[in-house]
Amino acid sequence: MTATTPTTPLRAGVVGLGWAGQQHMDAYASLPGVELVAIAGMEDGPRAELGEKYGVTRRYSDWRDLVADGDLDVVSVAVPTFLHAPITVGALEAGIHVLSEKPIARTAAEAQTMVDAAHRSGRVLEVAFNHRRRGDIEALKAAIDAGQIGRPYHARAIWLRRAGIPALGSWFTNREMAGGGPLIDIGVHVLDYALHLFGEPQVTAVSAVTHSELGARGRGGAKSDKQHVGSAYEVEDLASLLLRLEGGGSIVLETSWAAYRPAGDEFGITLYGTEGGADLRVVDYAPAGELTIFTGEGEEVEDIAVTADAGRGHLAVVETFLEHVADEPNWSHWDGSLALDRARVIDAAYESARLGAEVRLTPATAGLDADSTTTTETQEA
Ligand SMILES: NC(=O)c1ccc[n+]([C@@H]2O[C@H](COP(=O)([O-])OP(=O)(O)OC[C@H]3O[C@@H](n4cnc5c(N)ncnc54)[C@H](O)[C@@H]3O)[C@@H](O)[C@H]2O)c1
Repeated sequence: MTATTPTTPLRAGVVGLGWAGQQHMDAYASLPGVELVAIAGMEDGPRAELGEKYGVTRRYSDWRDLVADGDLDVVSVAVPTFLHAPITVGALEAGIHVLSEKPIARTAAEAQTMVDAAHRSGRVLEVAFNHRRRGDIEALKAAIDAGQIGRPYHARAIWLRRAGIPALGSWFTNREMAGGGPLIDIGVHVLDYALHLFGEPQVTAVSAVTHSELGARGRGGAKSDKQHVGSAYEVEDLASLLLRLEGGGSIVLETSWAAYRPAGDEFGITLYGTEGGADLRVVDYAPAGELTIFTGEGEEVEDIAVTADAGRGHLAVVETFLEHVADEPNWSHWDGSLALDRARVIDAAYESARLGAEVRLTPATAGLDADSTTTTETQEA
């Protein structure tokens, strides 16, 4: 990486030409102080079209050629999950700051190699959790921070689809490539925004069940142009978790790609607090969901409908990443450890489902600092 002055825009690359990669391309193309100069992806048509759209002439079919390109400052990684770790580690070792798509990796062990590479290289590693940057989640967080519901002690958080397996037979349903099903794919967003709304408590134990009933029988697939890798359906299509939090709080998290329920896609959270409650429901990707705060007592009960804007999603994620890249004295603060923490919870959930037992998460040090070495141990349910 070469030195950058305020008059020299950062040079950005994006690996991955799908929906996710295009969110990052849009952001780099529209934000000040950065220039999208290289893209990579295996599909010839989209690579040419996106190259034309964004005026990018450095176009590669393999991520290694993009990383070896030589003068990139930042790269976004928006590829199948099994490639997050090798690309991230390769880019960090080349001195490039990395913004990876969620989930950080297939497992916490793999995620740890990415965090270690961030420490070794001294570069920034961040993971795109764009749901917490939605306007409705930000409005709910502001209400909680203003004390409107008191101390939240329990939540039910969901992301449920009737028939939304990203594509039967694609990398998403291949265990080796994806690491899991809806829990690691969309449940990770729910886990992130729920813990964010609670103020980042440590998760102390996870009890989970997973089911694979529909995808395995060829049901529940979404219409998609995703490339087929020809695998059988190898992951869950529904997961349900009970998370115990430090301080006594709890979260029930339920997520499905496919289940016989009202058609479409729904995510949100219902929160109970000591002074009030909140309910956020987002149906079929509405830009802003229905958010209600419940307060009062006895005759004075009040339900407040909160109007939220759409928020900026990926644009905000990329903007914050670039702000952190501009803040060199604090690069070591942005090492991917929050996303690693999410991966530990998801590992524990899959382990709990496999064992039929609660799995405890034991922090060696409290909090989400870079040196945290949380370990897992099982406990009979
Ligand atoms: N944050 C979000 O809201 C969100 C939404 C969708 C997907 N995602 C995440 O983004 C990632 C990609 O998902 P998607 O739906 O865009 O996938 P996709 O299958 O549509 O696209 C994957 C891209 O990766 C490219 N790729 C694969 N191997 C490569 C290689 N060796 N070198 C270069 N490019 C390679 C493919 O050519 C393709 O362009 C996943 O991690 C997914 O979890 C995040």
